[in-house]
Amino acid sequence: MTEPLIELRDLRKSYGTVLAVGGVNLQVNKGEVVGLIGDNGAGKSTLVKMLAGAITPTSGEILVRGKPVAGWNAAKSRAAGIETVFQDRALAVQQTIARNIFMGREITTFGGLLNLGRQRSEALHLMREIGFTSNAVTPDTVVGQLSGGERQGVAIARAIYYNADLIVLDEPTTALSLTETEKVFSFIRTLRAGGRSILFIGHNIHHVFDIAERFLIMDRGRIALAVTKAQAGSARRLIALMEEVAHSGENTPPVELAARLKGVQ
Ligand SMILES: Nc1ncnc2c1ncn2[C@@H]1O[C@H](COP(=O)(O)OP(=O)(O)OP(=O)(O)O)[C@@H](O)[C@H]1O
Ligand SMILES: [Mg+2]
Repeated sequence: MTEPLIELRDLRKSYGTVLAVGGVNLQVNKGEVVGLIGDNGAGKSTLVKMLAGAITPTSGEILVRGKPVAGWNAAKSRAAGIETVFQDRALAVQQTIARNIFMGREITTFGGLLNLGRQRSEALHLMREIGFTSNAVTPDTVVGQLSGGERQGVAIARAIYYNADLIVLDEPTTALSLTETEKVFSFIRTLRAGGRSILFIGHNIHHVFDIAERFLIMDRGRIALAVTKAQAGSARRLIALMEEVAHSGENTPPVELAARLKGVQ
């Protein structure tokens, strides 16, 4: 049996009378890419924020490698090997790639001075690991010159530097062109090949379908349906499933949904 890296049990978050996340169970195993999809306001980002320890769940449990962690917060999330990358993550566009990767956690010499040489060589190593291929891009390249996909890559490189086992990407390709999206996907494939797990949140089902092997459809704060790529069959069927879930409201058994989708190619 595969041991889950991270498991959420009956996780809830309410804001006053608004139930943003209403009892979510999910697990992410080592080395898998899971796509979390669902309509606007379904609760995806709230779930991500709880996982990152940025907000406190109203109730529920978070387990790391099978063990419940008490008093979950940002530091515990990091210590558990989770790094979250947001599309709008603030990168300093006037600074170099190397400076951005180490911003806020700079490498210093014994004398306490900034060790730019080591930051540069570590940055180069990270860039190779995630598959930055362009010769024109070096650790000294200013981030403002990079494409959106490459910027996303810099944010991912930061996550790798902290040795994250699970990288959570909340809508990483929403604002990107096709070529840039492809670049982010190739970074993600490299990460997966390195045994890291990814939770990919996305709106564009075609994007998510490409990159993930398992999908969780979120609807009004719940995981309404979990399907593998093979079960979904195609991006179009996955979209149809999402629509079915949105219309059916309450818990409709997956088998029934699948039956209703027989005609969709
Ligand atoms: N801080 C907050 N206070 C009150 N309500 C909130 C807060 N954050 C989120 N919500 C509500 O919780 C619900 C889920 O929001 P969330 O941002 O998690 O959705 P989402 O699935 O990420 O949507 P999107 O696809 O648009 O990013 C929404 O109805 C939202 O209005
Ligand atoms: Mg969101």
